[in-house]
Amino acid sequence: RRNLFLGGAAAGAGALGATLAQRALPADEPAPPSTPPPHGEQSVAFHGSRQAGVQTPPQAHATLLGIDLDPEVAAEGVRRLLFLLSDDAARLTRGEPALADTEPELARVPARLTVTFGFGPGLVERVDPDAVPDWLTDLPDFEHDDLDPAWGQTDLLLQVCADDPVTVSHAARILLKDTRAFGRLRWSQDGFRRAHGSQPDGTTMRNLMGQVDGTVNPAPGTEDFERLVWGGAGPDWLTGGTSLVLRRIATHLDTWDELDRPAREAVIGRRLSDGAPLTGDSEHDEPDFEAKGDGGLPVIADFAHVRRARTGDPDERMFRRGYNYEDRARGEAGLLFVSFQADPVRQFLPVQRRLDELDLLNQWVTAVGSAVYAVPPGCAEGGFVGQGLLE
Ligand code: HEM
Repeated sequence: RRNLFLGGAAAGAGALGATLAQRALPADEPAPPSTPPPHGEQSVAFHGSRQAGVQTPPQAHATLLGIDLDPEVAAEGVRRLLFLLSDDAARLTRGEPALADTEPELARVPARLTVTFGFGPGLVERVDPDAVPDWLTDLPDFEHDDLDPAWGQTDLLLQVCADDPVTVSHAARILLKDTRAFGRLRWSQDGFRRAHGSQPDGTTMRNLMGQVDGTVNPAPGTEDFERLVWGGAGPDWLTGGTSLVLRRIATHLDTWDELDRPAREAVIGRRLSDGAPLTGDSEHDEPDFEAKGDGGLPVIADFAHVRRARTGDPDERMFRRGYNYEDRARGEAGLLFVSFQADPVRQFLPVQRRLDELDLLNQWVTAVGSAVYAVPPGCAEGGFVGQGLLE
């Protein structure tokens, strides 16, 4: 009811505002409902010591662009490209048109737009082969993967996120135009969460399997997060940066549909209704991995995803910030698994290895794409992302 009322008020705000402006309200008349400014006006700063789009509360829409540099592009070309991209990204995130914006009106709704740059080994090598961090390399093969190189490692990643899909589309188009003289788009992957405003801010997302996904995650602003995400495990140019692991994971929804609810909950170790652990009452209760049920079997099974995804080493953790995806023409849906961690080999890999060894969820999910990027620190106004690498 309240939402309907506000919706109606918003729809009629123009006419109502005009009427109110023309007459003073009698003292006993209740104040008219105020309409909050549209959320599309909200913006997230591009400039700063860290790039946005990592600890920014996840926006509703994301497009990930994987770009390969042309063979002849060397350090100077990389510098020009990164300068152009940073300059346009800064304008767009402020809600201003890019330099050569042919649809400037589309830029006027920033909707918390963020553009996060990730560098693949190919980009860093062109500038300085000695500057490639040890961990910036392909992940090893895993038994349950079925990788398609079409979704593989690229030289550059642009993660474009906003609460409005038109904003994302426009920003992606402008940024891709900037790259045309330097490289080509290998892939574009679109992701989505619930629309902005559908649920209270801070609600943990649900993936397309119906699960509450993202409950146990380091919280931005905590010491834990600082260490795990921004803690640094790389060359100097990466200080204030992090790494991004992208896994395109197809989920086999048709066979998942054949499971009943208790079986689906057993696969994860959490309830579908509210994401609570099978041993608890609410989402953020700590799972009790020791608890035994009837017959002496563990309530959270040995094969359950949440048991397997925890190693007991507090450093083997990452910050997950993924998006759902769907490609109906291919009959494929799944998760664009995105994780940020200071060191993917130290933090992501051991967890991924454990899951590959044993995780009942593997029967319904298959990684079809994989890539790793270095996420450099942010830049100051007038500067560009990756400046530290090129200086
Ligand atoms: C937890 C789903 C892949 C790491 C969870 C949870 C769900 C879930 C529903 C429980 C709620 C939560 O804490 O978020 C999925 C699905 C996947 C997938 C559907 C594939 C399509 C992965 C991968 C990794 C991973 C590839 C890392 C290698 C984790 C971690 C947790 C978790 C660390 C928290 C475990 C804890 O309680 O300590 N996942 N996941 N997941 N997942 Fe996944």
